[in-house]
Amino acid sequence: MSKDWWKQNAEGIPSIITALPGPKSVEMHANTCKYMRGLSGQVKLFPVCFDEGFGITLTDVDGNKYLDFSSGIYVTSLGHCHPKISEAISYWAKRLMNAHDFTTPVKEKLMEKMAGILPGKLNAIQLYSDGTSAVEAGIRAARAITGKHEFLSCFRDFHGKSMAAVSCAQMHRGDVHSYGPTRAPGFYMLPRPNPYRPTFAKPDGTIDTDRYISFYEEFILEATVGNVAAFVLEPVQGWGGSIFPPDDFFPKLRKFCDKRGILLMDDEVLAGMGRTGEWLTLNHWDVIPDIVTFGKSFGNGFPVTAMVVKEEYAEALDKISASSSYGGNPMACAAALASIEVIEEEDLLENATRVGKFIMKRLEQMKDRHPIIGDVKGKGMLLGIELVKDKATKEPFEQAGKLVYQKAFAKGLAWIPAGHILRMSPPIIMDEHYAGMGLDIIEDAIGEVEREFGYTR
Ligand SMILES: Cc1ncc(COP(=O)(O)O)c(C=O)c1O
Repeated sequence: MSKDWWKQNAEGIPSIITALPGPKSVEMHANTCKYMRGLSGQVKLFPVCFDEGFGITLTDVDGNKYLDFSSGIYVTSLGHCHPKISEAISYWAKRLMNAHDFTTPVKEKLMEKMAGILPGKLNAIQLYSDGTSAVEAGIRAARAITGKHEFLSCFRDFHGKSMAAVSCAQMHRGDVHSYGPTRAPGFYMLPRPNPYRPTFAKPDGTIDTDRYISFYEEFILEATVGNVAAFVLEPVQGWGGSIFPPDDFFPKLRKFCDKRGILLMDDEVLAGMGRTGEWLTLNHWDVIPDIVTFGKSFGNGFPVTAMVVKEEYAEALDKISASSSYGGNPMACAAALASIEVIEEEDLLENATRVGKFIMKRLEQMKDRHPIIGDVKGKGMLLGIELVKDKATKEPFEQAGKLVYQKAFAKGLAWIPAGHILRMSPPIIMDEHYAGMGLDIIEDAIGEVEREFGYTR
């Protein structure tokens, strides 16, 4: 199949033919909201209803066509309805939809493929159907491997919404009703290095990674009972705003974990499987985790996720059953296998790296031009723009974030808001032409907001 399978459908996008949200969207959304509650900020701020997606194009129920800069929510990284993936799912949808955790031909192939692409003998695998369940399984695996019960994780990381997953993630004040007033016992949160906003800095103001590591040492001695099973963290903070650590952080953290007998659990649900130009984002820093989780891009939209541990810990996985209703069903295995094959066949790790560099270069130029862009960040096609009221004080500019999101959406860009950090996750099939088009829309929207707030005329 040609790598350009999506291009014909993208011609002429964005194409906005009604006021937004259009009349059908308004009615459909209102009807749905009579029953459906708890929608995301993304929907509340721009309530359009989607009807179709193909490649990098999304079409709403009023016939408006959008350029996709979100991949759902980091999910459809290989484009909507990739023909190879859709065919692979429908083959099994017509043949065998569920066989509990019995082996199927497609599961056999997926296991071999995963063991082939993952580095460092990460080859003991369990399959699940959402990222949260994979993270929960990783926590169970860490307990089974070490016999220990405490966990370290980081401020502003996100790992899902079950009790253990949320206990190692950021909890919002407003969420106490859903998650309980406290995190589960034995789960501790620590700062992680954010180069733009360092908690620990050297005298010259640059980030001091060693100080983070020595703080972790001190924390374990003073605040835990010395029973830490794993350090659980995202390789890059996705929900937290595309925040990448300094290059020396993960190598130093790996050494710290080894010295202390703590497992390194890498939650790649959002960043893994090609989004940053590597199968594993930790590959950027040549670090191999002990436990890793995959989701989102793994099945390119079909709910399939994985928890993988190093071969040397494989036996411990026998103590934690992987049996679940849907985990590893034939359609799920087919989606994951086809997605990996598409990345290989279309050379999409290279594409994500090349187009990501193109976007970063443009973002750096935009930062110089715009008074409210405090920082830009990204690797591959996982990127962010941090909006501030003042470049000197770095005060977050939440209101501008919302307005830029809405204005760009109204110009035909489907994307993801996150307060003052504009997150971008275009499908990794995208080329420079469409990436540049998306950035033009964002820059226009930023310019308008700057004028409205009196930064420029
Ligand atoms: C890093 C990370 N881990 C876990 C999850 C939870 O995945 P899911 O929503 O599929 O349960 C998410 C979801 O956004 C995530 O970003």
